[in-house]
Amino acid sequence: MREFLKIVKLYDLTPLSRFQKFCFNLTDSTTHEDFSKKVISKQIQDDQYTGGLQDKILNSSEFLELTKDPGIRFLAAELMGVALEDIKIVFPFFRIDLPQKFVDQKKKMSLPWHQEAGYYLAKGNCTPDSMVMSIALHDCKNEQGALNVACDTQKNLVQHNNFFMDEDRKKHLRFECADPEEFIIAETEFGEVVAFDFKRLHRSGTNKSNFVRLTLLLRVTSCIELARFKEDRIGFSNFNTEILKGALSKRKVEK
Ligand SMILES: [Fe+2]
Repeated sequence: MREFLKIVKLYDLTPLSRFQKFCFNLTDSTTHEDFSKKVISKQIQDDQYTGGLQDKILNSSEFLELTKDPGIRFLAAELMGVALEDIKIVFPFFRIDLPQKFVDQKKKMSLPWHQEAGYYLAKGNCTPDSMVMSIALHDCKNEQGALNVACDTQKNLVQHNNFFMDEDRKKHLRFECADPEEFIIAETEFGEVVAFDFKRLHRSGTNKSNFVRLTLLLRVTSCIELARFKEDRIGFSNFNTEILKGALSKRKVEK
C-alpha cells in the first residue's frame, strides 16, 4: 500500500514559470497580485468570467504541454517509487478559485472533505494506490486557502454523500465524506508540490486573502499497477471490497 504525504520542490521551475506567465498574460498581467485584481473586477461585471478563463486555460496547448512535462513526470515516478516509463498522468485539471468573499455561496467551487480513490476509481484509469499532485502557481499559505490534508490515510475506500452546491439549478455537484481526526494545512511556496496517496482525505482551504488561487491538479497512476488492478486486484486485498465492488460496478453502468 502506498501511504504518504509529502511537500517536495520541483527540480526545474522553468516549465511552471512559463505556464504561470501564460495564465497571467491572458489578463495582461505580470504578477499574481495584478492577475487577481483583474480577474476579480471582471468577475464582478460578469459572473461567468472566471469559469470561462479556467476553460480557456484547460483547453490550451500550454496546459497540455505542462501535463506532459518531463520534470513533473520524473518527480512523480520518484514519489511513486516506479520507473519513469510506468507513469501515467490521469485526470489533469486546473482550478481558478476566487477569494471566499467574492463568491456567492451557491457557486463556491471549494471542495469539502473527500478521498480521491473513493471518487475516481469509478471512472477507471487509476487504482487505490494512485497519487495526487497539487501544484499552486504561486506561494499558497493558509490565508490563500492552502490545501487541508489528513495526517493519516484511510485503510478503505470511503463512501461519499453527493449534493449540489446550487440545489435549485442542480449545478456544482460535490462529494463529501466525514472529517478526518487530524489534518495539516499544506502551505507551499511557488514550485512546491503537495503529493499524497489516493486514500488520504483532503479538502480545499478557505481563501481569506484577496488573491485568486491557481492550482494545477494531477493524478498519477502506475501503468503496471493499473493493469494488475484491472485483472484481479492482486496487492489491493487490504481494501474494503464491498465498497470497491460498488465503485467498479458503477463504472460499468457509466460506459
Ligand atoms: Fe481531490
